[in-house]
Amino acid sequence: MSGKNYSKAVEDIKSTVNIVDVIGSAITLKRSGSGYMACCPFHKEKTPSFSVSESKGFYHCFGCGEHGDVIKFVEKYYNLDFQSAVEKLCSQYGITIEETIGPSDKKKEEYYEANKQAARYFFDRLSKSANKGYDYMSGRGLTAKTLQFFGIGYTGEDWTGLVDTLTKNGVRKDVLLELGLAAEKNGRLYDKFRGRVIFPIINVRGKVIGFGGRIIGDGEPKYLNSPESAVYQKKYNLYGLNRSKDAVIREGFAILVEGYMDCVSLYQAGVENVAASCGTALTPEQAKLLKRYAKNIVLCYDSDNAGINAALRGIDVLREAGLDVRVLNVDDGKDPDEYIKKHGKDAFLDLMNRKAIPGVEYKVNILKRSYDLKDHTQGIKFLKELASVIKALSPVEADIYIQKYSKEFGISEGALRREVEQSTGEKTSDVPVRRTAHPEEPEKTRQPSRTQLNVEHMLIRLIMLRPSFYERIGAYPEAFVSDRGKSVIAAVGNFYKDGELDTDALKNDLSDEDLIYLDRIEEKIQLGEDLEKSFMDCLSRLESARRAARIEEIDAIIDMSDTLPEESLDQEYINKLLMEKQQLIIRNKGEN
Ligand code: UTP
Ligand code: MN
Repeated sequence: MSGKNYSKAVEDIKSTVNIVDVIGSAITLKRSGSGYMACCPFHKEKTPSFSVSESKGFYHCFGCGEHGDVIKFVEKYYNLDFQSAVEKLCSQYGITIEETIGPSDKKKEEYYEANKQAARYFFDRLSKSANKGYDYMSGRGLTAKTLQFFGIGYTGEDWTGLVDTLTKNGVRKDVLLELGLAAEKNGRLYDKFRGRVIFPIINVRGKVIGFGGRIIGDGEPKYLNSPESAVYQKKYNLYGLNRSKDAVIREGFAILVEGYMDCVSLYQAGVENVAASCGTALTPEQAKLLKRYAKNIVLCYDSDNAGINAALRGIDVLREAGLDVRVLNVDDGKDPDEYIKKHGKDAFLDLMNRKAIPGVEYKVNILKRSYDLKDHTQGIKFLKELASVIKALSPVEADIYIQKYSKEFGISEGALRREVEQSTGEKTSDVPVRRTAHPEEPEKTRQPSRTQLNVEHMLIRLIMLRPSFYERIGAYPEAFVSDRGKSVIAAVGNFYKDGELDTDALKNDLSDEDLIYLDRIEEKIQLGEDLEKSFMDCLSRLESARRAARIEEIDAIIDMSDTLPEESLDQEYINKLLMEKQQLIIRNKGEN
């Protein structure tokens, strides 16, 4: 990818830049206790409640809850985005940001052209003669017209149909590989997409940037997607928007669904202002893209837990982009595709008009479900959570919701208003945990524990046995603790594509030490039948380690309170931290 190597720069900043230096040049810091204190630059106050720990490399405000490392401070204080903050620090402290070499426009054109040819090949196979793909799609209710409109295609079980056709047309081998259309084995190329219905992913400028291939019937993976490439970056795109953007403008809102099928199916039924996020968490970039066409969004995700969680996160992302969000859960069928097939367009629109509720209310409803409001203590906790949701709203919105919910939950408006004013607005579950090295003495590399190593070894074994685990472990980079483990997992990343791992190529590439490490693991780690269960066990141990880290962080924050004068310490806030810590301890006990 073209651009700069920011993650390397971030590491350099963390290991060389002193946080006290940086914050001290922006505001006046006073030495106190084991650290430094100041009046918080992020909220108004007369007595200091802002504390900086040089050794821990972070700051924390006991008044407003602002918290972070040196980069976060620069972002907030100078009102910069993450990259600009990194650049500013690098230029101040003489750190060079290395360039990574990226594709030129000319190269991109070549990629677009190759993808276009692939799309044509897939489409021809679906539309020119009888085939399983066409039968499958008609079986799911799609018409020939819809298939053509979205350019949906098919590829059979043969191994080289696409490779042969495109190679004959002059598409180069490395282009086929980079686009994830082909893979190589023993020096020969073969088709990556086989036995699937193919959804071409087309950007709003009409370029084919990737593909999603659904298996016909059951099998793994259900959908095989193109990898990220010079022309495909998932976070910038929404499936179907190339076809639906006019309808989105016309209707003044977009319906956002999870899946390819949901999108195509709604469109065919006449609900045309629809796009799909394709199973990944919605990104700020996607929100920005939508905002070009409409200011209002209806999130219509699957009705399962995954869908609800995705909606909760989506609400925040969309609101932060300045979009107005409503949420609709279909009440019959697992997803909008099933619903509209069963009940049709009018019923869907009617349901949306009656049941789509504002994002804020959706959040509160979900929150309400997790507390027993008849229980006093739980009721109070719920109200505090409610206050923190309201805290994030604009004053006008906050006012409306304070009125609404004080009536609904039978408390006085004044009480709820005060609760909102006092709330830090911080989501209890989602506080950034980032560790920074000690500015002077570089972080002592902690020896990984036996348990940590065991989890690492299990995971590597599991990934070798079932490569698709690799994607699911992406959210836990801390899982790999040993040098060998880190090196092997990085190499796995190089040879992994779409649920498959080219183990021959991987082993070819590994150093002798890495190979020995891998052999040992294969000997040592015995797994039961149920790989999924072993994998989930690893995840739950990692989660528990995260809770332990948060407990440590809370202890550190509470330690830092000794830098501050008595009167600026909000005991309630400290209590909240202590309560959170208690909860974490209880959960960790429960799971051990
Ligand atoms: P779903 O499992 O809900 O599939 O995944 P779906 O869209 O309802 O598909 P059908 O109706 O069973 O054919 C939602 C989306 O998540 C992504 C795809 O974009 C899918 O449309 N996904 C799902 C993947 O990328 N890979 C998978 O293996 C599964
Ligand atoms: Mn579906």
